[in-house]
Amino acid sequence: MPEVSEFRLPEVALFGWGAVERVGERGAALGKRALLVTGRSAMKRSGAADRVRALLAQAGVDVLTFDQVESDPSSATIQKGAETARREQRDFVIGLGGGSPMDAARAIAAMAVLDGHILDYTRGKTADRPGLPLMSIATTSGTASEITNVSVVLDESRKLKIGIRSPHWFARVAITDPELTLTMPPRLTAATGLDALTHAIESYLSTGATPPTEALALKAVSLVGANLRAAVAESSDRDAREGMSLGSMLAGMAFANSGLGLVHGLVHPIGARFGLPHGMACGRLLPAVLGFNLPAAEQKLAAVARALTGEESDQPDDAVAAVEELLQDLGVPAGIADLEIPADQMPSLARDGLVAGAVRTNPRPVTEEDARAVLEQARKG
Ligand SMILES: [Fe+2]
Repeated sequence: MPEVSEFRLPEVALFGWGAVERVGERGAALGKRALLVTGRSAMKRSGAADRVRALLAQAGVDVLTFDQVESDPSSATIQKGAETARREQRDFVIGLGGGSPMDAARAIAAMAVLDGHILDYTRGKTADRPGLPLMSIATTSGTASEITNVSVVLDESRKLKIGIRSPHWFARVAITDPELTLTMPPRLTAATGLDALTHAIESYLSTGATPPTEALALKAVSLVGANLRAAVAESSDRDAREGMSLGSMLAGMAFANSGLGLVHGLVHPIGARFGLPHGMACGRLLPAVLGFNLPAAEQKLAAVARALTGEESDQPDDAVAAVEELLQDLGVPAGIADLEIPADQMPSLARDGLVAGAVRTNPRPVTEEDARAVLEQARKG
């Protein structure tokens, strides 16, 4: 643990039922002309985009919608969005949706002000100043992109997903409203919930963890343990939805400040090449990675086991068993056996996985050989 810890958050993080109703007044404080960044169809189906537009219009904000964000936003989409924000003289940017639209909105707000191409910032160029003000509204409970300062961007030519972060990239206003998650179908609830769980556990075990991040992360583990099964089983279970939204938000506050670990290194190349949704990939790799990390994090894993199950435990491998049981209850296979990843891809997946910054804070140092062994184990299922 560093001697002095630093802790950063969005300027304002609104949490609770009906938080989205504040969009108008909060938006009007950021400017008169907004660019609303959303996915291609989900937001239209749920009516969330219409609701946000209506609230902003009532508050006198002019809204232009950019609804071209694909799942795993490409660098071309970011450039196009930034160009639109500049050309249409937008004062601020709103990200509405799951991780992809919110990540895209952050990168668009940044690139509307910064020079060059978004991919320059994956190759050492530094985002040295704030972008357009950003408001992020989450409609899932997992990514916590509304809380963090990270954007994952697809480098389409290299088929690489790369996380970019800057201390300037926290939202001015983050909105986490459980009501917006009520329309999530069970499979998306499971995937995003497993992402939240992975954030919470990786943050808790991270070498960058500090007392504030540990408190938030462990609470997030217990919220996911207590609520994810119920949220998947019954989408209208308001207590479970609230627990998952809160768990996701707290995990985001933790990992934005602590960093993550090997799961988040390895999921990006797997997602980019095999199209497995991020949260599913996280959940399926988590047992193998925790098994690898066990010798370096025994006490912390015993605490994870207690938080996740609500039962007494002093056995670190109970945490691995509890995660496997959760996956089973959710109908998610542990491991990546069914992806039919050719054996000759494993070395390059391991190599690409280690490039990610997330691996630097993994509790146990990881060599390329270790990463390959973890992937092999996950491949056996
Ligand atoms: Fe994640």
